[in-house]
Amino acid sequence: MPITFRFWASTKRSLPSLSFLAPIMLALLTPSAPPSPISRFGLPKGCDLVAAAALPVAFGTSHVALVHRASLSSSQVLLVLGAAGGVGFSAVQIGKVCGAVVIAAARGAEKVQFLKSLGADHVVDLTSQNLTASVKGFLKSRKLKGVDVLYDPVGGKLTKESMKLLNWGAQILVIGFASGEIPVIPANITLVKNWTVHGLYWGSYSIHRPAVLEDSIQELLSWMEKGLITIHISHTYSISEANLAFSALRDRKAIGKVMIVFDDMGRSKL
Ligand SMILES: NC(=O)c1ccc[n+]([C@@H]2O[C@H](COP(=O)([O-])OP(=O)(O)OC[C@H]3O[C@@H](n4cnc5c(N)ncnc54)[C@H](OP(=O)(O)O)[C@@H]3O)[C@@H](O)[C@H]2O)c1
Repeated sequence: MPITFRFWASTKRSLPSLSFLAPIMLALLTPSAPPSPISRFGLPKGCDLVAAAALPVAFGTSHVALVHRASLSSSQVLLVLGAAGGVGFSAVQIGKVCGAVVIAAARGAEKVQFLKSLGADHVVDLTSQNLTASVKGFLKSRKLKGVDVLYDPVGGKLTKESMKLLNWGAQILVIGFASGEIPVIPANITLVKNWTVHGLYWGSYSIHRPAVLEDSIQELLSWMEKGLITIHISHTYSISEANLAFSALRDRKAIGKVMIVFDDMGRSKL
């Protein structure tokens, strides 16, 4: 049975008044789980509510994955696949906040430009470049051995190719399968190379580790307030245009987030 996990946003100093709270998000399908409590978070003053609604799933997933699970540190190399998509662009930014060397992979000049503007150290344009050759060239130029953390929301052939770039002791964050193909990560190579494979399902933290989720959102909001992370929304639609939102994702046109905005919330000011 579907349950609704709801985030509510308000300006920081008007939190208690429910009439001023803007309902923001989100239905997560978790079959046999009890309804989770409503979580309320104060937002930085002047924060765009549509931008705030874009924060929890995309940035929440990347934050729990990179900070909580992988403990990404400043001496490490992070490779982000699907880097201009919803979870990808947040992983790139969180990687930079952690001080990592961030390599991003995406298709097309517009996405490459966008990822460079986020501070990615190297961007591979998969429309014209080979992932392995491009990343190896960059690592060599920086006198780096390989990738320490792979953030993978894509799966399929890209995962297979990325495994050739991983260091001894690397971590693989299994986030999703946007390619439609679930990758195989060979146990024998995982053993020999001492890799750690993390499966990460952000929504299930609301049931099993709600405190981790709350701490994570709080840290993200503080980063947003300090300007360390920014939300980018390439498309907003009304609820009656939900089909167009899905088309934008399917056609790989989204850069950052796609949002459905309810009439009484207005369009994003971003
Ligand atoms: N584990 C979790 O808790 C969690 C949370 C949120 C999302 N996810 C999953 O993570 C994945 C990505 O989510 P998202 O919100 O980032 O999606 P998105 O905004 O659509 O981004 C996905 C990216 O994957 C790339 N891609 C590669 N092959 C693709 C294909 N055949 N069709 C579409 N895109 C393709 C695209 O980049 P290029 O066009 O540049 O190649 C696209 O930018 C999804 O599978 C989603 O279900 C998991």
